[in-house]
Amino acid sequence: MNIGIDAGGTLVKAAYMHNHSLKFKRFPISRLGDAASWINGFEKAKICMTGGKAALLKSMINYKVAEMVEFEATCDGVRYLLAKNDGSEKSYILTNVGTGTSIHHIDHNKQQRLGGTGVGGGTIMGLSQLLTGLTDYEAIVSLAAKGVRDRIDLKVSHIYEGAEPPLPGDITASNFGNILPQGSTDPLTKEDRLASVIGLVGETVAVVSVLAAGHYGVSSIIYIGSSFVRNDPLKEVVESYTKLGGASPVFPEHGEYSGAIGALLSLG
Ligand SMILES: Nc1ncnc2c1ncn2[C@@H]1O[C@H](COP(=O)(O)OP(=O)(O)OP(=O)(O)O)[C@@H](O)[C@H]1O
Ligand SMILES: [Mg+2]
Repeated sequence: MNIGIDAGGTLVKAAYMHNHSLKFKRFPISRLGDAASWINGFEKAKICMTGGKAALLKSMINYKVAEMVEFEATCDGVRYLLAKNDGSEKSYILTNVGTGTSIHHIDHNKQQRLGGTGVGGGTIMGLSQLLTGLTDYEAIVSLAAKGVRDRIDLKVSHIYEGAEPPLPGDITASNFGNILPQGSTDPLTKEDRLASVIGLVGETVAVVSVLAAGHYGVSSIIYIGSSFVRNDPLKEVVESYTKLGGASPVFPEHGEYSGAIGALLSLG
């Protein structure tokens, strides 16, 4: 049994082969002990770990475990997923929206980390909690889907009211920038607040990725990370902002397991 593990800041992801098909498993980092017990339950598995919590998880395993650099594992996993999905991309920007966001340029077999932003999935969780008290990911995303951003976010068309804007009027001029001028009308709902949090994160991630794509002359941006899991509101924002920026967004199926898949592949 071979198992690839990506222990990130928020979630531990595992990828392994079972009956000739790729299987996945996930544990929250608050249940790292459960992840360790699950791994220790396999007598003589071959394990490769990656991610920021790999060393900690490794120290809880009863047998020898290999370790691998996170960015290499992630890029190898993405390459595998794209090839499997018939993807022809050879040169692209890879944006991993995990707890934080990491941006890479992939050109055939070379990968270069370009940088990142602290605005990521952890921001969705943290700001959502501050603004609504909610802590459950599924609840946050499902309420965000019903929210309206218009009274919280300032659009270009709000500023250029009655005039011809030099930009598409629908794009955001200032995330959360519409709160002060609007004064005290109806209270803002949780749904509206959450929709604006997702908007802030999605737009930031997409704009930074689009700038990187322009700089390197590539058109495809591959978006991965658990922040997109069952999160249509985030996908929609990222998709529209990426297209507005002239690039093509791709959300590979199982992209959140890229690091775990890369670690699994390294075991041969
Ligand atoms: N069940 C879940 N519980 C908590 N967060 C979730 C869940 N499903 C999706 N998420 C979202 O995914 C994000 C974590 O993504 P991911 O698993 O890719 O990060 P990570 O690998 O743990 O972190 P990093 O790579 O930054 O160390 C969370 O911040 C949250 O927005
Ligand atoms: Mg990660």
